[in-house]
Amino acid sequence: MDTSRIRNFSIIAHIDHGKSTLADRILEITGLINPRDMREQYLDRMDLERERGITIKAQTVRIPYKAADGKDYILNLIDTPGHVDFSYEVSRSLAACEGALLVVDATQGVEAQTLANVFLALDNDLEIIPVLNKIDLPSADPEAVKKEIEEAIGLPCGDAVSVSAKTGINVAAVLEQIIVKIPPPAGKAEAPLRALIVDSWYDSYQGVVVLFRVMEGTITHGQRIRMMYNNAEFEVIRLGAFSPGPKDFPSFGPGEAGFFCANIKTLTEARVGDTVTNAVNPATEPLPGFKEVKPMVFCGLYPVDAAEYEILKSALEKLRLNDAAFTYEPETSQALGFGFRCGFLGLLHMEIIQERLEREFGANLIATAPSVIYKVETLSGAIIPVDNPSKLPKTQEIAALYEPFARLEIHTPNEYVGGVFKLCEEKRGIQKDVRYLTATRVVITYELPFAEIVYDFFDRLKSSTRGYASLDYEIMDYRASDLVKLDILINGDPVDALAVIVHRENSYKFGRALALKLKRVIPRQLFEVIIQAAIGTKVIARERNSPIGKNVIAKCYGGDITRKRKLLEKQKEGKKRMKRMGNVELPQEAFLAALKAT
Ligand code: GTP
Repeated sequence: MDTSRIRNFSIIAHIDHGKSTLADRILEITGLINPRDMREQYLDRMDLERERGITIKAQTVRIPYKAADGKDYILNLIDTPGHVDFSYEVSRSLAACEGALLVVDATQGVEAQTLANVFLALDNDLEIIPVLNKIDLPSADPEAVKKEIEEAIGLPCGDAVSVSAKTGINVAAVLEQIIVKIPPPAGKAEAPLRALIVDSWYDSYQGVVVLFRVMEGTITHGQRIRMMYNNAEFEVIRLGAFSPGPKDFPSFGPGEAGFFCANIKTLTEARVGDTVTNAVNPATEPLPGFKEVKPMVFCGLYPVDAAEYEILKSALEKLRLNDAAFTYEPETSQALGFGFRCGFLGLLHMEIIQERLEREFGANLIATAPSVIYKVETLSGAIIPVDNPSKLPKTQEIAALYEPFARLEIHTPNEYVGGVFKLCEEKRGIQKDVRYLTATRVVITYELPFAEIVYDFFDRLKSSTRGYASLDYEIMDYRASDLVKLDILINGDPVDALAVIVHRENSYKFGRALALKLKRVIPRQLFEVIIQAAIGTKVIARERNSPIGKNVIAKCYGGDITRKRKLLEKQKEGKKRMKRMGNVELPQEAFLAALKAT
Protein backbone atom coordinates (compact mmCIF):
# COMPACT_ATOMS: atom_id res chain seq x y z
CA MET A 1 0.00 0.00 0.00
CA ASP A 2 0.95 3.66 -0.33
CA THR A 3 3.50 4.24 2.43
CA SER A 4 2.50 7.91 2.77
CA ARG A 5 -0.70 6.65 4.40
CA ILE A 6 1.04 4.53 7.04
CA ARG A 7 2.12 5.65 10.51
CA ASN A 8 3.99 3.28 12.80
CA PHE A 9 4.19 4.30 16.42
CA SER A 10 4.73 3.04 19.96
CA ILE A 11 3.63 4.37 23.29
CA ILE A 12 6.39 4.80 25.83
CA ALA A 13 5.91 5.70 29.47
CA HIS A 14 7.07 5.09 32.98
CA ILE A 15 5.14 2.29 34.66
CA ASP A 16 1.57 3.31 35.58
CA HIS A 17 1.63 6.58 33.69
CA GLY A 18 -1.20 5.29 31.53
CA LYS A 19 0.27 3.66 28.44
CA SER A 20 -2.23 0.79 28.30
CA THR A 21 -5.16 3.04 29.09
CA LEU A 22 -4.22 5.41 26.27
CA ALA A 23 -3.89 2.46 23.87
CA ASP A 24 -7.37 1.32 24.90
CA ARG A 25 -8.85 4.77 24.23
CA ILE A 26 -7.16 4.96 20.82
CA LEU A 27 -8.64 1.61 19.81
CA GLU A 28 -12.02 2.82 20.99
CA ILE A 29 -11.98 6.31 19.43
CA THR A 30 -10.86 4.97 16.05
CA GLY A 31 -13.81 2.58 16.20
CA LEU A 32 -11.61 -0.51 16.07
CA ILE A 33 -13.14 -1.76 19.28
CA ASN A 34 -16.68 -1.20 20.34
CA PRO A 35 -16.68 0.32 23.84
CA ARG A 36 -19.11 -2.38 24.89
CA ASP A 37 -16.57 -5.07 23.97
CA MET A 38 -13.79 -3.20 25.63
CA ARG A 39 -12.13 -5.27 28.24
CA GLU A 40 -9.98 -3.00 30.25
CA GLN A 41 -6.51 -2.90 28.77
CA TYR A 42 -7.26 -4.76 25.60
CA LEU A 43 -3.64 -5.09 24.65
CA ASP A 44 -2.61 -7.10 27.69
CA ARG A 45 -3.29 -10.64 26.69
CA MET A 46 -2.50 -12.76 29.67
CA ASP A 47 -4.65 -12.64 32.76
CA LEU A 48 -1.59 -12.27 34.85
CA GLU A 49 -0.54 -9.23 32.89
CA ARG A 50 -3.89 -7.65 33.33
CA GLU A 51 -3.72 -8.18 37.03
CA ARG A 52 -0.29 -6.72 37.32
CA GLY A 53 -1.04 -4.05 34.76
CA ILE A 54 2.21 -4.83 33.05
CA THR A 55 2.49 -5.50 29.37
CA ILE A 56 4.88 -8.36 28.98
CA LYS A 57 4.28 -9.49 25.43
CA ALA A 58 4.44 -6.83 22.77
CA GLN A 59 1.39 -6.80 20.55
CA THR A 60 0.86 -4.91 17.32
CA VAL A 61 -2.51 -3.55 16.23
CA ARG A 62 -3.43 -2.30 12.77
CA ILE A 63 -5.85 0.62 13.08
CA PRO A 64 -7.65 2.09 10.05
CA TYR A 65 -8.17 5.81 10.68
CA LYS A 66 -9.85 8.60 8.73
CA ALA A 67 -7.91 11.77 9.55
CA ALA A 68 -9.08 15.37 9.64
CA ASP A 69 -7.62 15.83 6.13
CA GLY A 70 -10.31 13.41 4.90
CA LYS A 71 -7.79 10.72 3.91
CA ASP A 72 -7.67 7.12 5.10
CA TYR A 73 -4.61 6.04 7.01
CA ILE A 74 -3.33 2.87 8.63
CA LEU A 75 -1.90 3.35 12.09
CA ASN A 76 0.20 0.48 13.41
CA LEU A 77 0.40 0.65 17.17
CA ILE A 78 3.38 -1.39 18.24
CA ASP A 79 3.12 -2.05 21.93
CA THR A 80 6.23 -2.28 24.11
CA PRO A 81 6.87 -4.02 27.41
CA GLY A 82 7.13 -1.52 30.23
CA HIS A 83 9.89 -2.72 32.51
CA VAL A 84 13.68 -2.48 32.62
CA ASP A 85 14.00 -6.27 32.50
CA PHE A 86 12.68 -6.14 28.95
CA SER A 87 14.60 -3.17 27.56
CA TYR A 88 15.96 -5.13 24.59
CA GLU A 89 12.42 -6.04 23.52
CA VAL A 90 11.43 -2.39 23.94
CA SER A 91 14.30 -1.29 21.73
CA ARG A 92 13.26 -3.75 18.97
CA SER A 93 9.66 -2.59 19.09
CA LEU A 94 10.86 0.99 18.79
CA ALA A 95 13.09 0.06 15.86
CA ALA A 96 9.91 -0.91 14.03
CA CYS A 97 8.44 2.60 14.40
CA GLU A 98 8.98 6.07 13.03
CA GLY A 99 7.53 7.78 16.08
CA ALA A 100 6.51 7.35 19.69
CA LEU A 101 3.97 8.89 22.02
CA LEU A 102 5.71 9.78 25.23
CA VAL A 103 3.08 9.54 27.94
CA VAL A 104 3.89 11.40 31.14
CA ASP A 105 1.56 11.39 34.12
CA ALA A 106 0.82 15.07 34.79
CA THR A 107 0.48 14.36 38.50
CA GLN A 108 3.91 12.70 38.68
CA GLY A 109 6.27 14.18 36.11
CA VAL A 110 9.34 12.65 34.47
CA GLU A 111 10.50 9.37 36.04
CA ALA A 112 13.46 7.03 35.56
CA GLN A 113 11.84 4.88 32.91
CA THR A 114 10.44 7.91 31.10
CA LEU A 115 14.01 8.95 30.44
CA ALA A 116 15.31 5.45 29.76
CA ASN A 117 12.58 4.92 27.16
CA VAL A 118 13.18 8.32 25.59
CA PHE A 119 16.85 7.43 25.12
CA LEU A 120 15.89 4.15 23.48
CA ALA A 121 13.53 6.07 21.19
CA LEU A 122 16.20 8.64 20.32
CA ASP A 123 18.67 5.81 19.58
CA ASN A 124 16.18 4.68 16.97
CA ASP A 125 15.74 8.23 15.55
CA LEU A 126 12.07 8.36 16.42
CA GLU A 127 9.87 11.43 16.34
CA ILE A 128 8.74 11.81 19.94
CA ILE A 129 5.33 13.30 20.70
CA PRO A 130 4.87 14.28 24.35
CA VAL A 131 1.42 13.60 25.83
CA LEU A 132 0.47 14.79 29.31
CA ASN A 133 -1.92 12.31 30.89
CA LYS A 134 -4.39 12.16 33.78
CA ILE A 135 -5.55 15.78 33.55
CA ASP A 136 -8.87 14.68 35.04
CA LEU A 137 -7.10 14.41 38.39
CA PRO A 138 -7.14 17.55 40.53
CA SER A 139 -3.44 17.24 41.33
CA ALA A 140 -2.46 17.26 37.63
CA ASP A 141 -0.12 20.11 36.69
CA PRO A 142 0.47 19.69 32.95
CA GLU A 143 2.20 23.05 32.51
CA ALA A 144 4.81 22.29 35.18
CA VAL A 145 5.37 18.81 33.77
CA LYS A 146 5.76 20.23 30.25
CA LYS A 147 8.50 22.46 31.59
CA GLU A 148 10.10 19.50 33.26
CA ILE A 149 10.07 17.52 29.99
CA GLU A 150 11.61 20.44 28.15
CA GLU A 151 14.34 20.81 30.74
CA ALA A 152 15.04 17.14 31.37
CA ILE A 153 14.77 15.84 27.82
CA GLY A 154 15.11 18.94 25.68
CA LEU A 155 11.87 18.07 23.93
CA PRO A 156 9.75 21.10 22.94
CA CYS A 157 6.30 20.85 24.54
CA GLY A 158 4.71 24.02 23.08
CA ASP A 159 1.89 22.13 21.36
CA ALA A 160 1.94 19.03 23.57
CA VAL A 161 -1.58 17.67 24.12
CA SER A 162 -2.91 17.24 27.66
CA VAL A 163 -5.28 14.28 27.85
CA SER A 164 -7.18 12.04 30.12
CA ALA A 165 -6.67 8.53 28.80
CA LYS A 166 -9.27 7.45 31.28
CA THR A 167 -12.12 9.69 30.14
CA GLY A 168 -10.91 10.15 26.56
CA ILE A 169 -10.55 13.96 26.71
CA ASN A 170 -8.27 15.20 23.89
CA VAL A 171 -7.23 11.73 22.78
CA ALA A 172 -8.54 12.56 19.28
CA ALA A 173 -6.04 15.43 19.10
CA VAL A 174 -3.23 12.96 19.77
CA LEU A 175 -4.30 10.93 16.74
CA GLU A 176 -4.05 14.02 14.55
CA GLN A 177 -0.55 14.72 15.86
CA ILE A 178 0.44 11.16 14.93
CA ILE A 179 -0.64 11.84 11.33
CA VAL A 180 0.99 15.26 11.09
CA LYS A 181 4.20 14.77 13.07
CA ILE A 182 5.30 11.19 12.58
CA PRO A 183 6.96 10.65 9.22
CA PRO A 184 5.62 7.91 6.95
CA PRO A 185 7.87 4.85 6.56
CA ALA A 186 10.55 4.72 3.88
CA GLY A 187 11.89 1.57 2.19
CA LYS A 188 11.85 0.22 -1.34
CA ALA A 189 9.21 -2.29 -2.35
CA GLU A 190 11.43 -3.82 -5.02
CA ALA A 191 14.42 -4.47 -2.69
CA PRO A 192 14.94 -7.99 -1.27
CA LEU A 193 12.73 -8.56 1.77
CA ARG A 194 14.01 -7.41 5.14
CA ALA A 195 11.48 -7.65 7.97
CA LEU A 196 12.30 -7.07 11.63
CA ILE A 197 11.01 -9.58 14.20
CA VAL A 198 9.37 -7.48 16.91
CA ASP A 199 8.03 -10.33 19.00
CA SER A 200 7.26 -14.02 18.78
CA TRP A 201 5.34 -16.49 20.87
CA TYR A 202 4.29 -20.09 20.77
CA ASP A 203 0.74 -21.04 19.99
CA SER A 204 -0.21 -24.67 20.45
CA TYR A 205 -2.31 -24.68 17.27
CA GLN A 206 -0.25 -22.58 14.88
CA GLY A 207 3.28 -23.09 16.17
CA VAL A 208 5.37 -19.96 16.56
CA VAL A 209 3.57 -16.71 15.70
CA VAL A 210 5.97 -13.98 14.56
CA LEU A 211 5.18 -10.27 14.79
CA PHE A 212 7.16 -8.31 12.27
CA ARG A 213 7.56 -4.99 10.52
CA VAL A 214 8.63 -4.92 6.86
CA MET A 215 11.52 -2.50 6.39
CA GLU A 216 12.10 -3.23 2.70
CA GLY A 217 10.69 -5.55 0.06
CA THR A 218 7.50 -7.58 0.32
CA ILE A 219 6.38 -10.58 2.30
CA THR A 220 3.66 -12.72 0.76
CA HIS A 221 1.54 -15.67 1.72
CA GLY A 222 3.21 -18.90 0.59
CA GLN A 223 6.63 -17.26 0.30
CA ARG A 224 9.78 -19.17 1.25
CA ILE A 225 11.54 -17.15 3.93
CA ARG A 226 14.86 -17.33 5.73
CA MET A 227 15.83 -16.23 9.24
CA MET A 228 19.13 -14.42 8.86
CA TYR A 229 20.52 -15.35 12.32
CA ASN A 230 20.67 -19.12 11.72
CA ASN A 231 19.64 -19.39 8.06
CA ALA A 232 16.69 -21.64 8.89
CA GLU A 233 14.07 -21.62 6.09
CA PHE A 234 10.29 -21.81 6.34
CA GLU A 235 7.19 -21.26 4.24
CA VAL A 236 4.69 -18.59 5.23
CA ILE A 237 1.47 -20.51 5.77
CA ARG A 238 -0.45 -17.69 7.36
CA LEU A 239 -0.03 -13.94 7.01
CA GLY A 240 -2.13 -11.33 8.69
CA ALA A 241 -2.49 -8.46 11.12
CA PHE A 242 -4.31 -7.97 14.41
CA SER A 243 -7.10 -5.50 13.78
CA PRO A 244 -8.02 -6.10 16.57
CA GLY A 245 -8.53 -9.86 16.03
CA PRO A 246 -6.31 -11.69 13.50
CA LYS A 247 -7.22 -10.90 9.85
CA ASP A 248 -5.56 -12.52 6.84
CA PHE A 249 -3.71 -10.48 4.21
CA PRO A 250 -2.10 -11.69 0.97
CA SER A 251 1.03 -9.55 1.30
CA PHE A 252 2.69 -6.70 3.13
CA GLY A 253 5.03 -4.10 1.69
CA PRO A 254 7.50 -1.62 3.23
CA GLY A 255 6.29 0.02 6.43
CA GLU A 256 3.57 -2.52 7.08
CA ALA A 257 3.39 -4.58 10.25
CA GLY A 258 1.68 -7.89 10.92
CA PHE A 259 2.17 -11.48 11.93
CA PHE A 260 3.00 -14.70 10.16
CA CYS A 261 3.02 -18.40 10.96
CA ALA A 262 5.40 -20.71 9.14
CA ASN A 263 5.41 -24.05 10.95
CA ILE A 264 8.17 -22.82 13.21
CA LYS A 265 8.56 -25.17 16.13
CA THR A 266 10.63 -23.24 18.67
CA LEU A 267 11.08 -19.61 19.64
CA THR A 268 14.84 -19.89 19.24
CA GLU A 269 14.21 -20.03 15.48
CA ALA A 270 12.33 -16.71 15.51
CA ARG A 271 14.31 -14.48 17.82
CA VAL A 272 13.26 -10.96 18.58
CA GLY A 273 15.47 -8.58 16.60
CA ASP A 274 16.34 -11.10 13.87
CA THR A 275 15.77 -10.28 10.19
CA VAL A 276 13.41 -12.27 7.96
CA THR A 277 14.38 -12.32 4.31
CA ASN A 278 13.26 -13.98 1.11
CA ALA A 279 14.94 -17.41 0.72
CA VAL A 280 14.97 -17.17 -3.08
CA ASN A 281 16.27 -13.61 -3.35
CA PRO A 282 17.86 -12.96 0.04
CA ALA A 283 19.15 -9.64 1.36
CA THR A 284 22.90 -9.52 1.87
CA GLU A 285 22.90 -7.77 5.26
CA PRO A 286 20.57 -8.28 8.23
CA LEU A 287 19.00 -5.25 9.91
CA PRO A 288 21.21 -3.73 12.62
CA GLY A 289 20.66 -4.16 16.35
CA PHE A 290 20.23 -7.90 16.79
CA LYS A 291 21.30 -9.17 20.19
CA GLU A 292 21.01 -12.56 21.80
CA VAL A 293 19.34 -11.94 25.16
CA LYS A 294 20.94 -13.67 28.08
CA PRO A 295 19.55 -14.35 31.52
CA MET A 296 21.17 -12.24 34.23
CA VAL A 297 19.53 -13.55 37.39
CA PHE A 298 19.44 -17.20 38.46
CA CYS A 299 17.66 -19.17 41.13
CA GLY A 300 16.94 -22.78 41.99
CA LEU A 301 13.36 -24.02 41.69
CA TYR A 302 12.53 -27.27 43.49
CA PRO A 303 9.27 -29.16 43.91
CA VAL A 304 8.18 -29.22 47.54
CA ASP A 305 7.18 -32.82 47.02
CA ALA A 306 9.88 -34.78 45.17
CA ALA A 307 7.12 -36.76 43.43
CA GLU A 308 6.17 -33.59 41.53
CA TYR A 309 9.52 -33.31 39.77
CA GLU A 310 8.13 -34.44 36.43
CA ILE A 311 5.19 -32.02 36.68
CA LEU A 312 7.59 -29.14 37.30
CA LYS A 313 9.78 -30.27 34.43
CA SER A 314 6.95 -30.31 31.94
CA ALA A 315 5.69 -26.92 33.19
CA LEU A 316 9.16 -25.44 32.65
CA GLU A 317 9.27 -26.94 29.17
CA LYS A 318 5.95 -25.31 28.32
CA LEU A 319 6.98 -21.92 29.67
CA ARG A 320 10.26 -22.07 27.80
CA LEU A 321 8.31 -22.59 24.56
CA ASN A 322 6.90 -19.14 25.06
CA ASP A 323 9.85 -17.34 26.46
CA ALA A 324 13.21 -17.56 24.75
CA ALA A 325 14.84 -15.44 27.45
CA PHE A 326 14.06 -17.92 30.20
CA THR A 327 16.42 -20.87 30.69
CA TYR A 328 16.46 -23.92 32.94
CA GLU A 329 18.62 -26.93 33.54
CA PRO A 330 18.47 -29.79 36.01
CA GLU A 331 20.30 -29.25 39.27
CA THR A 332 20.70 -31.31 42.39
CA SER A 333 20.90 -29.87 45.85
CA GLN A 334 21.79 -31.87 48.93
CA ALA A 335 19.20 -29.90 50.81
CA LEU A 336 16.43 -29.68 48.25
CA GLY A 337 16.91 -32.77 46.14
CA PHE A 338 16.22 -32.73 42.40
CA GLY A 339 15.21 -29.43 40.85
CA PHE A 340 16.23 -26.86 38.27
CA ARG A 341 18.57 -23.90 37.97
CA CYS A 342 16.57 -21.25 36.15
CA GLY A 343 17.78 -18.08 34.47
CA PHE A 344 15.83 -14.82 34.06
CA LEU A 345 16.37 -11.40 32.54
CA GLY A 346 15.79 -9.71 35.87
CA LEU A 347 13.81 -9.85 39.08
CA LEU A 348 10.44 -9.03 37.61
CA HIS A 349 10.88 -11.68 34.96
CA MET A 350 11.73 -14.16 37.73
CA GLU A 351 8.66 -13.28 39.75
CA ILE A 352 6.41 -13.59 36.73
CA ILE A 353 7.71 -17.06 35.86
CA GLN A 354 7.44 -18.29 39.44
CA GLU A 355 3.93 -16.98 39.69
CA ARG A 356 2.89 -18.58 36.42
CA LEU A 357 4.35 -21.92 37.49
CA GLU A 358 2.28 -21.82 40.61
CA ARG A 359 -0.88 -20.39 39.14
CA GLU A 360 -1.15 -21.92 35.70
CA PHE A 361 0.61 -25.20 36.35
CA GLY A 362 -0.24 -25.68 40.03
CA ALA A 363 3.40 -26.26 40.88
CA ASN A 364 4.25 -26.19 44.56
CA LEU A 365 7.74 -24.73 44.67
CA ILE A 366 10.65 -23.91 46.87
CA ALA A 367 12.69 -21.10 45.30
CA THR A 368 16.20 -20.29 46.43
CA ALA A 369 17.50 -16.74 46.74
CA PRO A 370 18.37 -15.24 43.35
CA SER A 371 22.00 -14.95 42.30
CA VAL A 372 23.84 -13.11 39.56
CA ILE A 373 26.52 -14.78 37.41
CA TYR A 374 29.98 -14.45 38.92
CA LYS A 375 33.13 -15.11 36.94
CA VAL A 376 35.85 -17.08 38.63
CA GLU A 377 39.44 -16.98 37.42
CA THR A 378 41.12 -20.19 38.48
CA LEU A 379 44.82 -20.58 39.23
CA SER A 380 45.30 -22.08 35.78
CA GLY A 381 43.90 -18.89 34.24
CA ALA A 382 40.59 -20.37 33.10
CA ILE A 383 37.45 -18.23 33.55
CA ILE A 384 34.38 -20.12 34.70
CA PRO A 385 30.91 -18.65 35.20
CA VAL A 386 29.18 -19.45 38.48
CA ASP A 387 25.43 -18.91 38.79
CA ASN A 388 24.98 -20.79 42.05
CA PRO A 389 26.86 -19.72 45.20
CA SER A 390 27.19 -23.30 46.40
CA LYS A 391 29.20 -24.09 43.24
CA LEU A 392 31.92 -21.55 43.99
CA PRO A 393 35.32 -23.32 43.97
CA LYS A 394 37.38 -23.42 47.17
CA THR A 395 39.20 -20.18 48.05
CA GLN A 396 42.61 -21.76 47.47
CA GLU A 397 41.61 -22.60 43.87
CA ILE A 398 40.53 -19.04 43.02
CA ALA A 399 42.93 -16.48 41.52
CA ALA A 400 40.30 -13.74 41.18
CA LEU A 401 36.55 -13.27 41.40
CA TYR A 402 34.56 -10.92 39.17
CA GLU A 403 31.01 -9.68 39.55
CA PRO A 404 28.69 -7.76 37.21
CA PHE A 405 28.30 -4.02 37.77
CA ALA A 406 25.23 -2.03 36.81
CA ARG A 407 24.77 1.61 36.05
CA LEU A 408 21.88 2.77 38.13
CA GLU A 409 19.80 5.88 37.66
CA ILE A 410 17.49 6.92 40.47
CA HIS A 411 14.93 9.70 40.23
CA THR A 412 13.82 11.14 43.52
CA PRO A 413 12.29 14.24 45.08
CA ASN A 414 15.16 16.22 46.61
CA GLU A 415 14.16 15.67 50.23
CA TYR A 416 15.11 11.97 49.93
CA VAL A 417 18.53 12.48 48.37
CA GLY A 418 20.30 11.78 51.67
CA GLY A 419 18.48 8.48 52.12
CA VAL A 420 19.30 7.37 48.56
CA PHE A 421 23.00 8.19 49.03
CA LYS A 422 23.07 6.24 52.25
CA LEU A 423 21.46 3.18 50.65
CA CYS A 424 23.73 3.26 47.58
CA GLU A 425 26.87 3.65 49.69
CA GLU A 426 25.80 0.78 51.89
CA LYS A 427 25.30 -1.29 48.75
CA ARG A 428 28.89 -0.62 47.62
CA GLY A 429 27.88 1.98 45.07
CA ILE A 430 30.23 4.43 43.39
CA GLN A 431 28.60 7.82 42.89
CA LYS A 432 28.86 9.09 39.34
CA ASP A 433 26.51 12.02 39.01
CA VAL A 434 23.87 14.07 40.81
CA ARG A 435 21.72 16.24 38.61
CA TYR A 436 18.76 18.49 39.37
CA LEU A 437 16.01 18.02 36.76
CA THR A 438 14.03 20.80 38.39
CA ALA A 439 14.37 22.60 41.70
CA THR A 440 12.79 19.64 43.48
CA ARG A 441 13.59 16.57 41.39
CA VAL A 442 16.99 14.93 41.31
CA VAL A 443 18.61 12.25 39.14
CA ILE A 444 21.30 10.32 40.96
CA THR A 445 23.64 8.04 39.03
CA TYR A 446 25.64 5.27 40.68
CA GLU A 447 27.69 2.31 39.57
CA LEU A 448 26.80 -0.56 41.80
CA PRO A 449 27.32 -4.35 41.94
CA PHE A 450 24.31 -5.94 40.26
CA ALA A 451 24.08 -8.48 43.09
CA GLU A 452 23.28 -5.64 45.48
CA ILE A 453 20.33 -4.62 43.29
CA VAL A 454 19.08 -8.19 43.24
CA TYR A 455 19.32 -8.30 47.03
CA ASP A 456 16.50 -6.20 48.36
CA PHE A 457 17.37 -2.93 46.65
CA PHE A 458 13.91 -2.03 45.34
CA ASP A 459 12.15 -2.42 48.66
CA ARG A 460 14.83 -0.50 50.51
CA LEU A 461 14.71 2.31 47.96
CA LYS A 462 10.94 2.50 48.16
CA SER A 463 10.92 2.63 51.92
CA SER A 464 13.68 5.24 52.16
CA THR A 465 11.87 7.52 49.70
CA ARG A 466 8.27 6.77 50.72
CA GLY A 467 7.72 5.18 47.37
CA TYR A 468 8.57 8.37 45.46
CA ALA A 469 11.81 7.23 43.84
CA SER A 470 11.98 5.43 40.53
CA LEU A 471 14.82 3.43 39.16
CA ASP A 472 16.40 2.23 35.96
CA TYR A 473 19.54 0.16 35.48
CA GLU A 474 21.68 -1.48 32.86
CA ILE A 475 24.46 -4.02 33.22
CA MET A 476 27.82 -2.50 32.32
CA ASP A 477 30.78 -4.81 32.89
CA TYR A 478 32.50 -7.27 35.22
CA ARG A 479 34.85 -6.03 37.93
CA ALA A 480 37.17 -7.80 40.33
CA SER A 481 35.74 -7.88 43.86
CA ASP A 482 36.82 -9.29 47.18
CA LEU A 483 33.98 -11.77 47.57
CA VAL A 484 33.56 -14.73 49.87
CA LYS A 485 31.12 -17.60 50.15
CA LEU A 486 29.03 -17.60 53.28
CA ASP A 487 27.83 -21.04 54.33
CA ILE A 488 24.89 -21.71 56.58
CA LEU A 489 25.01 -24.75 58.85
CA ILE A 490 21.92 -26.20 60.48
CA ASN A 491 22.79 -28.43 63.42
CA GLY A 492 26.32 -28.67 62.08
CA ASP A 493 25.44 -29.57 58.47
CA PRO A 494 26.01 -27.04 55.68
CA VAL A 495 22.85 -26.42 53.65
CA ASP A 496 23.96 -25.85 50.06
CA ALA A 497 20.76 -24.06 49.03
CA LEU A 498 21.34 -21.40 51.71
CA ALA A 499 24.89 -20.45 50.68
CA VAL A 500 25.40 -16.89 49.48
CA ILE A 501 28.27 -14.91 47.98
CA VAL A 502 28.95 -11.64 49.77
CA HIS A 503 31.60 -8.95 49.88
CA ARG A 504 34.25 -9.70 52.48
CA GLU A 505 33.82 -6.33 54.15
CA ASN A 506 30.11 -6.90 54.78
CA SER A 507 30.38 -10.62 55.43
CA TYR A 508 30.37 -10.51 59.25
CA LYS A 509 27.46 -8.15 59.47
CA PHE A 510 25.58 -10.05 56.79
CA GLY A 511 26.31 -13.45 58.36
CA ARG A 512 25.02 -12.29 61.74
CA ALA A 513 21.90 -10.76 60.24
CA LEU A 514 21.19 -13.85 58.13
CA ALA A 515 21.60 -16.24 61.06
CA LEU A 516 19.22 -14.12 63.12
CA LYS A 517 16.71 -13.93 60.30
CA LEU A 518 16.84 -17.71 59.89
CA LYS A 519 16.30 -18.19 63.60
CA ARG A 520 13.10 -16.19 63.21
CA VAL A 521 11.73 -17.93 60.13
CA ILE A 522 12.62 -21.53 61.01
CA PRO A 523 9.84 -22.81 63.23
CA ARG A 524 10.90 -24.25 66.54
CA GLN A 525 11.12 -28.01 66.49
CA LEU A 526 10.90 -30.75 69.06
CA PHE A 527 14.64 -30.50 69.56
CA GLU A 528 17.24 -27.78 69.67
CA VAL A 529 18.24 -26.19 66.35
CA ILE A 530 21.61 -24.48 65.99
CA ILE A 531 22.03 -22.09 63.07
CA GLN A 532 25.57 -21.04 62.15
CA ALA A 533 27.03 -18.81 59.49
CA ALA A 534 30.57 -19.68 58.42
CA ILE A 535 33.23 -18.50 56.01
CA GLY A 536 35.40 -21.47 55.15
CA THR A 537 35.86 -23.28 58.45
CA LYS A 538 35.41 -20.16 60.55
CA VAL A 539 32.03 -19.74 62.24
CA ILE A 540 31.11 -16.06 62.36
CA ALA A 541 27.59 -16.20 63.79
CA ARG A 542 25.55 -18.62 65.85
CA GLU A 543 21.89 -18.66 66.81
CA ARG A 544 19.84 -21.21 68.69
CA ASN A 545 16.17 -22.19 68.61
CA SER A 546 15.16 -23.94 71.80
CA PRO A 547 12.96 -27.03 71.48
CA ILE A 548 9.21 -26.88 71.85
CA GLY A 549 7.57 -29.39 74.11
CA LYS A 550 4.84 -31.29 72.37
CA ASN A 551 2.53 -31.71 69.47
CA VAL A 552 -0.05 -28.94 69.09
CA ILE A 553 -2.90 -31.32 69.80
CA ALA A 554 -1.62 -31.82 73.30
CA LYS A 555 -2.94 -28.36 73.99
CA CYS A 556 -6.53 -29.45 73.30
CA TYR A 557 -7.80 -31.08 76.35
CA GLY A 558 -11.22 -32.58 76.05
CA GLY A 559 -12.53 -34.23 72.97
CA ASP A 560 -13.47 -31.26 70.79
CA ILE A 561 -12.82 -32.86 67.43
CA THR A 562 -13.45 -29.75 65.33
CA ARG A 563 -10.92 -27.82 67.29
CA LYS A 564 -8.41 -30.60 66.86
CA ARG A 565 -9.06 -30.74 63.16
CA LYS A 566 -8.57 -27.02 62.85
CA LEU A 567 -5.24 -27.19 64.57
CA LEU A 568 -4.13 -30.08 62.43
CA GLU A 569 -5.23 -28.21 59.31
CA LYS A 570 -3.17 -25.26 60.44
CA GLN A 571 -0.20 -27.48 60.97
CA LYS A 572 -0.63 -28.99 57.54
CA GLU A 573 -0.89 -25.53 55.98
CA GLY A 574 2.36 -24.60 57.65
CA LYS A 575 3.98 -27.70 56.24
CA LYS A 576 3.09 -27.03 52.64
CA ARG A 577 6.23 -25.19 51.74
CA MET A 578 8.64 -27.05 53.95
CA LYS A 579 11.74 -28.99 53.12
CA ARG A 580 13.25 -31.42 55.54
CA MET A 581 16.97 -30.99 56.17
CA GLY A 582 18.05 -34.00 58.18
CA ASN A 583 15.33 -33.78 60.76
CA VAL A 584 14.86 -29.99 60.64
CA GLU A 585 11.99 -28.54 58.64
CA LEU A 586 12.87 -25.45 56.64
CA PRO A 587 10.08 -23.24 55.29
CA GLN A 588 10.24 -21.39 51.95
CA GLU A 589 11.03 -18.12 53.77
CA ALA A 590 14.31 -19.60 55.01
CA PHE A 591 15.57 -19.91 51.44
CA LEU A 592 14.79 -16.27 50.73
CA ALA A 593 16.03 -15.01 54.09
CA ALA A 594 19.23 -13.73 52.49
CA LEU A 595 17.18 -11.18 50.56
CA LYS A 596 15.84 -9.60 53.69
CA ALA A 597 18.74 -10.16 56.02
CA THR A 598 19.93 -6.59 56.28
P1 GTP B 1 2.18 -0.52 32.74
O1 GTP B 1 1.38 -1.37 31.80
O2 GTP B 1 2.33 -1.13 34.10
O3 GTP B 1 3.45 -0.02 32.15
O4 GTP B 1 1.32 0.75 33.10
P2 GTP B 1 0.70 1.72 32.07
O5 GTP B 1 1.63 2.84 31.82
O6 GTP B 1 0.18 0.96 30.92
O7 GTP B 1 -0.47 2.33 32.93
P3 GTP B 1 -2.00 1.94 32.90
O8 GTP B 1 -2.62 2.30 31.62
O9 GTP B 1 -2.14 0.55 33.39
O10 GTP B 1 -2.52 2.98 33.98
C1 GTP B 1 -2.07 2.96 35.31
C2 GTP B 1 -3.19 3.43 36.22
O11 GTP B 1 -3.51 4.79 35.95
C3 GTP B 1 -4.48 2.65 36.03
O12 GTP B 1 -5.07 2.47 37.29
C4 GTP B 1 -5.33 3.56 35.16
O13 GTP B 1 -6.70 3.38 35.37
C5 GTP B 1 -4.88 4.93 35.63
N1 GTP B 1 -5.02 5.95 34.58
C6 GTP B 1 -4.54 5.90 33.32
N2 GTP B 1 -4.86 7.03 32.65
C7 GTP B 1 -5.57 7.79 33.51
C8 GTP B 1 -6.19 9.08 33.41
O14 GTP B 1 -6.16 9.75 32.40
N3 GTP B 1 -6.81 9.53 34.53
C9 GTP B 1 -6.87 8.83 35.68
N4 GTP B 1 -7.50 9.36 36.71
N5 GTP B 1 -6.31 7.64 35.80
C10 GTP B 1 -5.66 7.11 34.74
